[in-house]
Amino acid sequence: MPPRKLAAGNWKMNGTLASLAEVETLMRDCASAEVDILICPPATLLHPMAERVGRGPVAVGGQDCHAKESGAHTGDISAEQLRDAGASHVIVGHSERRADHGETDAAVAAKAVAAHRAGIVSVICVGETEAQRDAGETLDVIARQLADSVPGCATAANTVVAYEPVWAIGTGRTPTGEQIAEVHAAMRKALVARFPDGAGFRLLYGGSVKPSNAAEIFAIADVDGALVGGASLKASDFGPIVKALD
Ligand code: G3P
Repeated sequence: MPPRKLAAGNWKMNGTLASLAEVETLMRDCASAEVDILICPPATLLHPMAERVGRGPVAVGGQDCHAKESGAHTGDISAEQLRDAGASHVIVGHSERRADHGETDAAVAAKAVAAHRAGIVSVICVGETEAQRDAGETLDVIARQLADSVPGCATAANTVVAYEPVWAIGTGRTPTGEQIAEVHAAMRKALVARFPDGAGFRLLYGGSVKPSNAAEIFAIADVDGALVGGASLKASDFGPIVKALD
């Protein structure tokens, strides 16, 4: 059976308490959608969002976690703290974290292990830069990031993989359907070769997904959903994306 579809929103450093109304609208608009919905707000909104919607059809997740459970790490948040605040998922290895905070594949894998230790699902991001694509290195980059960022303890139940080409994030540009299909097929093959339940991992596409291109992207083989940035902030954009997956 193919994995159940997942529409995930990454709010990045956007949103205030007033934004919680968007999630309530989304819940109303998508109440009958047979799709899993996840919103990853900034840490300041995690608990209030989980309190208001996290026990309903919308799951709530963090955008990053520290590899350790607790300790002297000013400004960081552990996976256990995310779970305590109501999160069921956490994004790790987003390209903005890799670029802004120098996160390596090994660091990303350690964060994913921490998520699993805490009993939450890791959403592990991979993706090539524009220079890497232009140099014909895309599949090698993805293979290396998958091998080194997805830990050995990963299962289809505790791990989601998101393909986010760096050059497509927030730019309005998306790869062609063939390019997305090629990468997703390669990811599926690598996961099947490495994990007994590799066929069941959910593979998300992320990068300039919007209501106008969602249906076309979701029709591609091995695309089990999306990780959406800008278009996840408003229910009027994210709702149609969720419905395109239904
Ligand atoms: O994690 C989601 C993201 O990086 C894609 O952002 O704004 O291009 O949908 P956006």
